[in-house]
Amino acid sequence: MKIAFFDTKQYDIEPFRACGEKSGVEYKFFEPKLTADTAGLAAGYDGVCVFVNDTVDAEVVDRLYGEGVRLVALRCAGYNNVDVKYAFGKLHVVHVPAYSPYAVAEHAMALLLTSIRRIHKAYNRTRDFNFSLSGMTGFDLHGKTVGVVGTGRIGRVFIDICRGFGMNVIAYDKFQAEGSGIDYVTLPELYSRSDIISFHCPLTDETHHMLNADTIKLLKRGSVIINTSRGALIDAEALLAGIKSRIVGAACLDVYEEESDIFFEDFSGHIMDDDTLARLISMPNVIVTSHQAFLTEEALHNIAETTTSNIITFAEKGTCDNELCYHCGNTETCKKQRLERCF
Ligand code: NAI
Repeated sequence: MKIAFFDTKQYDIEPFRACGEKSGVEYKFFEPKLTADTAGLAAGYDGVCVFVNDTVDAEVVDRLYGEGVRLVALRCAGYNNVDVKYAFGKLHVVHVPAYSPYAVAEHAMALLLTSIRRIHKAYNRTRDFNFSLSGMTGFDLHGKTVGVVGTGRIGRVFIDICRGFGMNVIAYDKFQAEGSGIDYVTLPELYSRSDIISFHCPLTDETHHMLNADTIKLLKRGSVIINTSRGALIDAEALLAGIKSRIVGAACLDVYEEESDIFFEDFSGHIMDDDTLARLISMPNVIVTSHQAFLTEEALHNIAETTTSNIITFAEKGTCDNELCYHCGNTETCKKQRLERCF
């Protein structure tokens, strides 16, 4: 299989090259993101390998299909950037459902601790030989209530970490995990009872802007918001207003709804056009990381292994356990449950 690899970063090359050489998958690493303008680079390849900010909309699907591409191998779990409905019948889509839930959950906790114990400020201060403690007062996590939205792989690891800190955990999930011992509540209840809220559900039409100007009104004053899932779960303008009105006490963001042209790139020395992001970053109680929650050695290794195995399995069998389509999860229309393939 010849695979055109888009949005390549230096850290991708070594693990993917190693896995490719072991298994006979030939990766060609392209720096640009996949868009309608760059889809032509995939001419002559069997598949494309894409990440969170590549675009696989209807136009890109048609271009890839026209170039002879038949496989989209996502090297991530989320697939909100792929028009899976339009791709159905043309491009098979495979993803990496899990590579290290620990990487993301641990990053969420790292952001939380950094924020509430002012570690980012202390780091800068002591480097400047400023040993003053003024403005550094934090609060204990022990005994606080954390609301976890989405209790899948990452959400559950985050819950375990929070329990280790002696926090009270409540959760909301559209599909509750039976027998998990998790204390499920409604989303409005979660919003109004939590001191800290962490988002771990996928971005769908239903979850888009689930934290917005109206739902922010339900929050406890001073709530800490953590988002390591997908930016558009939160209306960024409304979050900014919530911070200004002091309802939101702090925000820890690894994702941002308009991140696709910004995150992963170096804009130091440039004027930031995105006023909302610039204003958020300027706030003393906001920490932004650049969609790096996944970035651990273990996760990179697992991503490369699973992606390559997905490609090999697909080449050999024309099907793959990690294939997905818009019927997935619908027991009435899902062909994969009967035929082991989406189409
Ligand atoms: P998962 O599929 O194991 O869990 C997702 C959970 O969300 C499930 O329990 C599901 O029932 C729940 N859910 C679905 N629709 C919902 C709704 N409308 N309301 C509430 N809950 C709903 O996924 P996993 O592996 O835990 O990943 C969660 C998300 O984390 C991914 O969708 C992805 O967007 C994000 N992610 C972010 C990374 C980063 O580097 N920042 C890396 C990997 C994933």
